[in-house]
Amino acid sequence: MAVVGIVPAAGSGERLGADGPKAFAVCAGRPLVDWSLDVLAEVCERVVLAVPPGYEQPPDRVTGGASRSESVRLALAAAPEATVVVVHDAARPLITRDLVERCIAGLAGEYDAAIAAAPVSDTIKEAGAGGRVRRTLERSALWAVQTPQVFRADVLRAALGAGPEALARATDDAMLVEAAGGAVRIVEAPPDNMKVTRPLDLRIAAELLSC
Ligand code: CTP
Ligand code: MG
Repeated sequence: MAVVGIVPAAGSGERLGADGPKAFAVCAGRPLVDWSLDVLAEVCERVVLAVPPGYEQPPDRVTGGASRSESVRLALAAAPEATVVVVHDAARPLITRDLVERCIAGLAGEYDAAIAAAPVSDTIKEAGAGGRVRRTLERSALWAVQTPQVFRADVLRAALGAGPEALARATDDAMLVEAAGGAVRIVEAPPDNMKVTRPLDLRIAAELLSC
């Protein structure tokens, strides 16, 4: 089993509004992405990053694409040896080794993917034009999906072949596997596996990483 980490880190970080790309913004004294790389290196034989133009460092830092999943596809193309893939966003620096290992173990049996997620604590409603509520979803069945997401490599490679439009619409990679008929399992994540999207998130993550 060749476990390879794939880190999409090629986004511009528009909502964070830092001077440069989000993955390289300083968080608790080092580039945001480095926190994830430390953890992934404990479990993966190799970690390949998709990075913005100008940040390439062959063979493990390759140019990313126009969408997040396109970046995953390009990074995975640089790791043909992978049989198991751990996809993890540079934007989630609080990943733990335990969570990665539980996701890898989650592939056992019939599953093609095992993905970190947290039970939803807000009530979720679906609304149409003008904000008119159509219905309230049954919360006990809802999960907020995160990364890491672990895949059988052949299944992920096939799913990422869906074409640039499908990849641009995908908000995670597991939905591409689901669309291809794959079996995806939820792995409950600890509550602090937060995503850095806006300046407040960066402050909170820095505080948690400094503890
Ligand atoms: N990402 C990527 N390639 C892209 C877009 C996003 O590798 N074309 C990565 C980001 O670097 C990040 C992860 O996907 O690690 C999740 O994306 P998001 O949080 O949306 O980051 P950004 O796209 O950088 O932020 P924003 O949407 O605010 O511009
Ligand atoms: Mg984005």
